[in-house]
Amino acid sequence: MKTVTLTINGREVTAREGQSVLDAARAVGIDIPTLCAHDQLEPAGVCRFCMVEITQGKKTRLVTSCVFPVESGLVVQTETERVNNIRRMLIELLLPVAPSGPLNALAKRYGVVKSRFQTAEEPSNCSLCGLCVRYCEQINGEHAVGFVGRGVNRKVALTADKGDECVFCRKCYSICNSGRFVEIAEVFPEQP
Ligand code: FES
Repeated sequence: MKTVTLTINGREVTAREGQSVLDAARAVGIDIPTLCAHDQLEPAGVCRFCMVEITQGKKTRLVTSCVFPVESGLVVQTETERVNNIRRMLIELLLPVAPSGPLNALAKRYGVVKSRFQTAEEPSNCSLCGLCVRYCEQINGEHAVGFVGRGVNRKVALTADKGDECVFCRKCYSICNSGRFVEIAEVFPEQP
């Protein structure tokens, strides 16, 4: 196994070649927040919470750590002011959040209690992280859950015409970051 050495938050870290920066950081106990990452699923780079600052030579830029591979000599900072301001803005876009769960924990962690972007409309609380969609597809090999609509109308829904593909694993209940899925799943038929 080939390894590379990089620096994360000032600490020298040895990682597997091809490993993501997120996995390399987590392997040594450095916590990078995520919403759309899951151990059993392919990384999708959707939520942007895992964004970190990297420095290569004289250039510093933001990358999505769940899909960015480690490189030898890479310098990574996971909690800079710039990064944390982006995370706060992402949380604001999702407020108000359910009173428990990952989104709520992130709001507390980054001290976000109100949003500059709130509208009069009832928020869905769904972050569109796609965990439920990808779990159904990649683990169950089904498409009982999917995205519908575009732009601001995009949402997660049971794919009504394929509802019979649901294998009743109920994983989408617990995997949901926002608690939104319980609401959607009320229309699930009872498990046979
Ligand atoms: S965990 Fe990387 S974009 Fe969501």
